[in-house]
Amino acid sequence: MQHLLKSTTVVFCLLLSMTLQAQTKPAKTKPKPTGDPRIEKLLAKMTLEEKIGQMTLYTTDWESTGPTIRDGYKNDIRSGNCGALFNSHTVPFTRELQRIAVEETRLKIPLLFGYDVIHGYKTIFPIPLGEAASWDLDAIERSARIAATEAAASGLHWTFAPMVDIGRDPRWGRVMEGAGEDTYLGCRIAEARVRGFQGKGIGNTDAVIACVKHYAAYGAPIGGRDYNTVDMSERFFREYYLPPYKAAVQAGAMTVMASFNDYDGVPATGNKYLLQHILRDEWAFKGFVVTDYTGINEMVKHGVVPDDKAAGELAVQAGIDMDMQGAVYQRFLAQSVKEGKVKMAQIDEAVRRILALKFQLGLFEDPYKFSNAQRAQATILSPENRAAARDVARKSMVLLKNANQVLPLNKQQKIALIGPLAETKNDLIGNWSGAGSGADCVSLLEGLQNAGMKPVAVAKGCAIDSEDQSGFKAALDAAAQADVVVLAIGERADMSGEAASRAYITVPGAQEALLTALKATGKPVVVVLMNGRPLTIPNIDRQADAILETWWSGTEAGNAIADVLSGAYNPSGKLTMSFPRTTGQIPVYYNHKSAGRPFDPNSKWTTKYIDEANAPLYAFGYGLSYTSFKYGVPTASKTAFKKGESIVISVELTNTGNVDGEEVAQLYIHDLVGSVTRPVRELKAFQKVMLRKGETKTLTFTLSDKDFSFFKQNMKFGSEPGDFEITVGGNSDTDNVVRVSLK
Ligand code: GLC
Repeated sequence: MQHLLKSTTVVFCLLLSMTLQAQTKPAKTKPKPTGDPRIEKLLAKMTLEEKIGQMTLYTTDWESTGPTIRDGYKNDIRSGNCGALFNSHTVPFTRELQRIAVEETRLKIPLLFGYDVIHGYKTIFPIPLGEAASWDLDAIERSARIAATEAAASGLHWTFAPMVDIGRDPRWGRVMEGAGEDTYLGCRIAEARVRGFQGKGIGNTDAVIACVKHYAAYGAPIGGRDYNTVDMSERFFREYYLPPYKAAVQAGAMTVMASFNDYDGVPATGNKYLLQHILRDEWAFKGFVVTDYTGINEMVKHGVVPDDKAAGELAVQAGIDMDMQGAVYQRFLAQSVKEGKVKMAQIDEAVRRILALKFQLGLFEDPYKFSNAQRAQATILSPENRAAARDVARKSMVLLKNANQVLPLNKQQKIALIGPLAETKNDLIGNWSGAGSGADCVSLLEGLQNAGMKPVAVAKGCAIDSEDQSGFKAALDAAAQADVVVLAIGERADMSGEAASRAYITVPGAQEALLTALKATGKPVVVVLMNGRPLTIPNIDRQADAILETWWSGTEAGNAIADVLSGAYNPSGKLTMSFPRTTGQIPVYYNHKSAGRPFDPNSKWTTKYIDEANAPLYAFGYGLSYTSFKYGVPTASKTAFKKGESIVISVELTNTGNVDGEEVAQLYIHDLVGSVTRPVRELKAFQKVMLRKGETKTLTFTLSDKDFSFFKQNMKFGSEPGDFEITVGGNSDTDNVVRVSLK
């Protein structure tokens, strides 16, 4: 026995030393050359563990954006077990972490720093759903540009944005992060945000790497409940949910984040069809794919793998290059390679993609180039950035109602400012507000004061989500002193965003009752709505004299709202998500199908509710102005055209009101007969134009057969001969039609 024990020990020591050598010696396999000698040279030196370290992303303990936090991430850096960090920013912190990586590790590979810079880094812009309502692609790009400049000056290389998930269900809290329900608009906005983030290119010290998320179809959870199952046909997916990811990739985004949900029964994090067939083979994406927070681990809960190790093998074989926070690759991937369950070539491919971006950033030449105190000082919260935030915020606001032209207010009117959001600062930056701070915000009260519209009385009236009405008396007293009431109501910022789905999307608590009480005074009431999603507000619509949708409009919110209330800026925003009358209508969206029994008020046997209208309270594309616009009948350069030809749709637009204003002219098509059912409306073009009062402009839109293409019955994308109705107007309800035929 003793002898056996001794020889076993010898064998064990031999094995142990061989294993240790293997870990310290570069891996044996000859890496496949990629054309960049720097990458190949470095890769050849790396041990398997060091390669896996590059595929590992951890959060610091500065912030928590998910269910787990690891301490010891600095030791992970030192041991070469972590190649990227998120929730780590500011010059001092990133310099310290980078120093550990480039001074205390064997190969001195610089770290990548990522962060959720979704609608601003420190100067916070409106939530993306608000920005989308501006329909101003230049403004949206500018917002991302400024966010990138501030973030890159603070040591960040990479933002986990744009979020391009199509959202048709306002119960889902993350609609605040996206561009709304429409695919065409979602694509254009995705492109603008990628351009803004990446600027003149990765490596510039005012640019950050964009990360398209959440790939894919995360915005369609059943029941609007975050993280829930997604289930849709391939046609529906490719027609409505997939295009914005493709648009962002084709705009140059160099990273993609896999989503938590399953697609066609397979979690996106392990879905080869999404990550390889579509992303790599169809789109030729060259960047790297990162999971969402512990997305690999969660495949065990999805029930497609028995344990984390198997989850890691499924993820890497599907095409996941980097493991966010799950520590699955770090714990099990080396073993999986040794067991032959994962090929070294797969590891090398992932590491090449990651190193390629670190080289492109210039981090090997200067690991500290992004952590620059002077640049940070010069750009963060600069007057120019604040002015831009105020401008984008104004443009994002949507005037939903303005009975008897109660708006704009004039400076002689005595204003009572009432409501739980009248003086808020922290809520104004909304959710996913990066390094933003409420302390930097301008409240609505301050904005009115700055505009020379100091209220004669201010009262909270009630809380956001309490039924307590004890504050009503003070509110009524305030209203009694005024000519007009400005009532600031809505949600709390944390009632939308991740893990914040709502089954009742009302203005919560006693806020509606407060409106009713104030309305009874006979004073006109202007509702300023602050929220992160469409809300069901039929009672508010009935009672308020005016309603201004301001979303969460960021650091300069108060000034921007005052600009609109005072008429200094004529509101021009248009909704990019339908506002249901009631939750029971959800999902309700403009580009619906006709169905075989389209609604007919004169027939029982048609698609309808017996207790509610079909139509939303406010439609996609809707928004009022302080002026009015008139559209002429659209005309077509030719009423019949062939594949390969284009047609020009022209329409006269007149500002028939008394003030200058911007209008978003929207062009929709309706394919009357297709090999599959087609939506009754599809947005295919838009123009935001300024018209002086009384001015008329002729707008032209050039369309090609690509604009009439869709996934036909054979699932091939293309157009079919047939008749189309083209409508041009100020929202999706317009019936200003010209008919054309594609031969
Ligand atoms: C979160 C979000 C994702 C974010 C990531 C890092 O869970 O789903 O959008 O980028 O974690 O914070």
